[in-house]
Parts: sequence; C-alpha cells; structure tokens
Amino acid sequence: MKVLAFNGSPRMKNGITDKILQTFLKGAASAGAETETVYVAKKNIKFCSGCFNCWFVHPGKCIHKDDMIEIRRQIKAADLIVLGSPVYFDGFTAQIKTMLDRLIAGGMPFIEIRDDHFRHPSRGGEKKIRKMLLISTCGFGEKDNFDPIIHHMQAIARNFATGEYMGALVRPVGSTLEMLKDENPEGVKSVLDAFFQAGVEAVTKGTISEELQEAVSVPLIPLKEFVDRANKMFHELIAEKKTPKQK
Ligand SMILES: Cc1cc2nc3c(=O)[nH]c(=O)nc-3n(C[C@H](O)[C@H](O)[C@H](O)COP(=O)(O)O)c2cc1C
Repeated sequence: MKVLAFNGSPRMKNGITDKILQTFLKGAASAGAETETVYVAKKNIKFCSGCFNCWFVHPGKCIHKDDMIEIRRQIKAADLIVLGSPVYFDGFTAQIKTMLDRLIAGGMPFIEIRDDHFRHPSRGGEKKIRKMLLISTCGFGEKDNFDPIIHHMQAIARNFATGEYMGALVRPVGSTLEMLKDENPEGVKSVLDAFFQAGVEAVTKGTISEELQEAVSVPLIPLKEFVDRANKMFHELIAEKKTPKQK
C-alpha cells in the first residue's frame, strides 16, 4: 500500500502537524506501507489561473509547468492520500488549497450525476479508489474548531471521482504536545501512540476505529488552565520581543 502524505504547514518539520503526521506514517510503515511526505511549502506550485486550458485546449495539461506535474504523478500512484494541515482561519492552509485547486487538470468538464449529485469524471475514466484521510491540529481547545475542515475534507473526497473518505485525526491545542512533554510524558505518549496505532489500522483494516479517532483528541490539561498559562506566556513573549520558538 502506498501512502502519500501532504504536510501543508508552512512550519513544515518544525510544526505540530509534522509531529502527528510522521507518527501516523511510522505506524503505517510498521504495518508494511510505503510512505512518502510532500512538504507543500517547499514546492513550486503556482495558483490555478482558472483559464480552463487544461479542460478544453490541452486536455489534462496545465499551463503552469511546475511541481504539480510530479505531485499529480504521485497522487495517481497512491492508495491512501493524507492531507496534513493545521487549521488556518477555520480551514486548510493556503499551501494545501493551492495544491488542491491545481488538481482540476485531472478532471474533465463533463458533468455526471453520482449519488444524486453533479460531479466531474476523472480523466481517462480511472477507476482506482484512493482513500483520503485528514490529519489536523489547531491552536484552540474545542474539537468543533475542526468542523469546517472536516466538512471540507469530506466534500473533497466525494468530489474526487476516485476518492473515499477514511476519516479525520484531529488534535486540538496541538501545542500541548510540546508544552507538556516533561510535565505529562505519559499523556503525551498516549496521544502519540494513538496516532501510531491509527497508522497501523489504516493499513491493516482500511479504516480507523472511532476509539482511535477519539483518543488522538483527548485533552491533556483542563482548557481553563491552558488559557491562563498561554496568556501568561504571551505577555512574557511580547515583553521580551520573542516568538514562542525563541523562548
Ligand atoms: C494564519 C493562522 C491562522 C490560524 N487560524 C486558526 C484557527 O482558525 N483556529 C485555531 O484553532 N487555530 C488557528 N491557528 C493556529 C494553528 O492552527 C496552530 O498554531 C497549529 O499548531 C499550527 O500548526 P503547525 O504547528 O503544524 O504549523 C492559526 C495560525 C495561523 C498562523
């Protein structure tokens, strides 16, 4: 099984998205999957210009000659596509969205009705099903901060002629995985173990249990306590003119 993961955080390997994504991928690899990560921020991907040349003039070919040529090849070969993105203004980062928009070249203009809904067929009538999983983190504490991005992910999987939604592994207050690693190592480990196990299940069962989808989200600190500690730290950072990374 080929697992292709996109990390859409501009912080790439320094972010929480990468921590949970790589833990998931280690689990998947331990169960025999071949895994690959694309750091989208590193790639040269131009915005879709909405010209529709890829549909009508040079079918399947985008006017932009950039890293999307390789990314489309990688997606074609994948069995499971993981979109790893922090929540940015309640949705995917611009890096992920820019990449997704450019996938329009892989579809065709014709409209077919699937499951009582307008859809575009994939180019060449490809039949291979690719499962699609969301892995996300955010700064706020409530799980409902992920509602819009999960909804979007489900819609993307439906719109992909060959996509099938597998689920979402979401981690609110992602920063607690760093903040509490000395204070509550057991708690942090149990969350990361759940991401690892989810990788194993994704490969061995083709699904991820509700229990694991819950386990990756469990709070490690009362939210009120987190708010007090975070606000205190923010005052200090502003006084010292430092970012959280420099502290
Ligand atoms: C531009 C921007 C927008 C953000 N919007 C949200 C948001 O809408 N809700 C939220 O809970 N966190 C938001 N955050 C916080 C990030 O989701 C959080 O810092 C996350 O850990 C970043 O992931 P990373 O560590 O992988 O870069 C935002 C951060 C930035 C920089």
